[in-house]
Amino acid sequence: MTTDLPGAVSIREVGPRDGLQNEEVVPTDGKVRLLDLLGTTGVRRIEAVSFVHPKAIPQMADADEVWSRARKAPEVRYSALVPNSKGAQRALAAGFTEIEVVVSASDTHNRRNVNRSTAESLDDIAGLISLLHDAGATAEVIVATSFGCPYEGDVDPSRVAGIVNRVVADGADRVAFGDTTGMATPRRVRELVTAVRNRQPDIPMLLHFHNTRGTALANLLTALELGVTEYDASVGGLGGCPYAPGASGNVATEEVVHMLHDMGIETGVDLDALLEVAAYAEQLVGRELPSGVLRAGPRSRLAA
Ligand code: COA
Ligand code: ZN
Repeated sequence: MTTDLPGAVSIREVGPRDGLQNEEVVPTDGKVRLLDLLGTTGVRRIEAVSFVHPKAIPQMADADEVWSRARKAPEVRYSALVPNSKGAQRALAAGFTEIEVVVSASDTHNRRNVNRSTAESLDDIAGLISLLHDAGATAEVIVATSFGCPYEGDVDPSRVAGIVNRVVADGADRVAFGDTTGMATPRRVRELVTAVRNRQPDIPMLLHFHNTRGTALANLLTALELGVTEYDASVGGLGGCPYAPGASGNVATEEVVHMLHDMGIETGVDLDALLEVAAYAEQLVGRELPSGVLRAGPRSRLAA
């Protein structure tokens, strides 16, 4: 490579949470098996479950059972997502020490997702961060709809940067930016990362892309060029809406790994092992997932 891209990237596998929450409900056994298989692929971080209201997300109603039955690979950092302090208490009680709390940059999306305004969520998050720190856990704040809102349209990067200022002042350990509905483009990525870095140069930052409009890998490459080294991805590109043909979920972990390895960027992931897990994920959700071509076709020698 001629550009000075990072030599290594940290991938957080979110298929068991973000992926499965957007699929029809799968049996608890399957969720446990998916987590166990992912733990053998070399991926170093897995978002295992979320602790949300079971009526809001029935797919995560068995989160406690899934987590208690999963084999916890010692070399993997597992985390849980929560929408509020009540969820944080449940995650701590289940034994998690790495917790992500989500808030949407746009008020309308935040109200639909967690039934309160962004400002109300931010007030709750201040207390939640103290609660987690007192318990010896870390707090990551995920800002959803960071690149656009399905209800309000464009989201001003300065609004997102303002949210980051607030949560950093309240003690957040890390921030993440969610492209909840796949509206990000390389331009939007560049503007947002720059706006945040200008105000908070030291806060660790992770990006979460969906491939809804086919831009996820282009977005990821743009962020890499800006020096961002942490990304969410889901095995098989799990997610999307089963009732909307063509809708896609998170960027597929195997596509990210394939691209990065071919560029000489290390992830720790064994691509062949991951492709086997993607085949299992296909069985689990009962439909073909977008990355099948990687299993079938020739691929770069370096990418293995
Ligand atoms: N897990 C389980 N139950 C919860 C909860 C949580 N994280 N948070 C609140 N509750 C319970 C309360 O204890 C209360 O129970 P009660 O009626 O028995 O007293 C009830 O839910 C209502 O509490 P309230 O704070 O008024 O919640 P709400 O009805 O406004 O719902 C959320 C707010 C956040 C719980 C709900 O919208 C939610 O779970 N959203 C998650 C959305 C999501 O996961 N989206 C995808 C990920 S980004
Ligand atoms: Zn997502």
